[in-house]
Amino acid sequence: MQTLTGFSKLNRTEKLNIIRKYVVLDEKQTKLLTNFHENINEYNDIIEKLSENYVSNYVLPFSISPNFLVNDKIHFVPMVTEESSVVAAAAYAAKFWSDKGGFRTKIIGTKKTGQVYFSWTGDFNRLQNDLPLLKERLLAAANPFTMNMEKRGAGISAIILCNDNLVDHDYHTLSVDFETADSMGANLINSCLEAMGSELTSFINENYAEVAPEAEIIMAILSNYTPDCLVECMVECDISQFTQISGKLTSEQFAVKFEQAVRIAHQNVQRAVTHNKGIFNGIDAVLLSTGNDFRAVEACGHAYASRDGIYTSLTNIELSENRFKYTLTVPLSVGTVGGATSTHPLAKLALQIMGNPSANELMQIVAAVGLASNFAAIRSLITDGIQKGHMKLHLNNILYHFNVNSYEKKRVEEYFKDHQVSYKAVSDYLDSMSEKV
Ligand code: MEV
Repeated sequence: MQTLTGFSKLNRTEKLNIIRKYVVLDEKQTKLLTNFHENINEYNDIIEKLSENYVSNYVLPFSISPNFLVNDKIHFVPMVTEESSVVAAAAYAAKFWSDKGGFRTKIIGTKKTGQVYFSWTGDFNRLQNDLPLLKERLLAAANPFTMNMEKRGAGISAIILCNDNLVDHDYHTLSVDFETADSMGANLINSCLEAMGSELTSFINENYAEVAPEAEIIMAILSNYTPDCLVECMVECDISQFTQISGKLTSEQFAVKFEQAVRIAHQNVQRAVTHNKGIFNGIDAVLLSTGNDFRAVEACGHAYASRDGIYTSLTNIELSENRFKYTLTVPLSVGTVGGATSTHPLAKLALQIMGNPSANELMQIVAAVGLASNFAAIRSLITDGIQKGHMKLHLNNILYHFNVNSYEKKRVEEYFKDHQVSYKAVSDYLDSMSEKV
């Protein structure tokens, strides 16, 4: 597929026709994409079951960013967001990088973990020594849940006991590592941990009853901190290639200013949080479109950004000779099966539009969208400023408020192509138009 140009200028039907040219959709999926809301009643049963106390549906735009070249494969990426500039920014950067090798990604790891927190006043060293025996019992207890996973190369990869001195010295942790294949794994991990928690208490009570009181489970829960479920995504080009997007700056000035912006995000927490928020603009929008848990991913991403004790940027830049290299490293625990991903009709469709990726492939696409969103934000910030683009998109909302007709809308849009948009400026311009009539 070639890089698409002018996609945003097409009307909705034209956009859908282009998507259908490249994405295989059956009749039901086509109907869903073109008429979901008209046919919402067909899906009410599914939607109702997603949440307690359902009374209505909350509608957000389901948009598509074309031209995402990730590891030589081009994708249309579905994005769901309430912020009007997010899709435009991601699509802008995707197109820019599509003829420069696109996004190159690497999965660093896919490990997830969970913990059983317990209190016990017995001899912890003795329990440690008995760990091989205990492990056998714990694995057997988790087996009903891991059995199916193991067929897909997933399951429990490590079990350790930690004397963390949590709260006081009688509190300990059983920490378990998991591989969860294409599922995000929350249910699997929590079920395993609860079963393992009961087995742990039985083991302790059977083996040390005469010398120590019973163990008590405080709680068993997965950790949303998944620093080893990590992906790296990189873009690279000659600095001279920035001429087309550097505005009034030379391409060298653009690259240097870009580097300064990233350095500031490295050193200044006020800036780092906003910098990373721009990354999550893209990441969350794809996660939401696919029914993934974006709160878990955000919480983990921000904790990872402060893994060395200081909150910092998730991206890194290298300028050398004439080359610009920009990298995002981000933990992304995502799934392509299970939960809303498998039940919400639009989430399933979103995955279909991306070519039904595995969880690892989805991690890589999502990272690319995160990096694209951040790249576009920094480009705006160091050239025109963020408001120019934002306010252009916001113009539509302002015009909606004034209830203008199509003639007025056309005139206003023409005028504000090279004037600063603000609510007052639009109001004044509309007034001046009516005075002239
Ligand atoms: C706005 O949603 C996101 C930005 O503030 C990100 C950034 O400043 O890098 C533009």
